Amino acid sequence: MNLRIFDSLDDLVSAAARTVVQRASQRETCSIALSGGSTPKPVYERLGSSPLREELEPRQITWVVADERYVPFDDPQSNAGMIQKTLFANGPSPIHRFLPFRTDLGDPQKTADQLEIEWRELGLGDLDLVILGMGDDGHTASLFPGTGAIDVEDRIAMPVYVPRLNSWRVTITKPVIRAAALRIVLAAGASKREILRQIREGADYPIAVVTRGVETWWFVDKAAAGE
Ligand code: 6PG
Repeated sequence: MNLRIFDSLDDLVSAAARTVVQRASQRETCSIALSGGSTPKPVYERLGSSPLREELEPRQITWVVADERYVPFDDPQSNAGMIQKTLFANGPSPIHRFLPFRTDLGDPQKTADQLEIEWRELGLGDLDLVILGMGDDGHTASLFPGTGAIDVEDRIAMPVYVPRLNSWRVTITKPVIRAAALRIVLAAGASKREILRQIREGADYPIAVVTRGVETWWFVDKAAAGE
């Protein structure tokens, strides 16, 4: 496991943001999928502020929402809304493209289908980078354990009903995440300690399944690493 342990969350956020800029700067065009959650959020804030915003501005980037709560864009729970308020807080670059889930369609399956239509219209192939969080139950994106979502191989995006949350999600799928050139997993805080320990010992949670055997950089803080 390619694991970097940071003294603080701020150090982790800085390193993750710098890594995104470096990866985006290495190629003419790139596609980056962004997960929701409290750990990825400050990374997006950093990327949407000076000086990193200016470094990213001229790059031809397509930002893809990796997963979404099935709520309106202006709902506080919306990942696309969170990205709008962080990465795009100072205005998106005119040459960047943004691919959110259209939860305004009012039907999770239609929303997943629409994302696939727009994915193809944009000419997206394998993603260059996927930023993933990790739940303390081992979920990532909205691939939650026990939902069967991790087993879907023939879709780019799918709806997922999550009983534990009593709510619908839409998410990119395991094959899409595994096909990306690079995955960065962000995990911080003592609440991630136990699940990270189990994953390092080979547990088969969704976050392990989407990262096993493919280039993945784990950015964790000391609290999550159990140090
Ligand atoms: C979401 C995310 C989800 C998140 C993890 C980690 O929509 O919530 O996509 O997969 O990344 O639950 O979240 P935290 O970083 O807040 O623990």
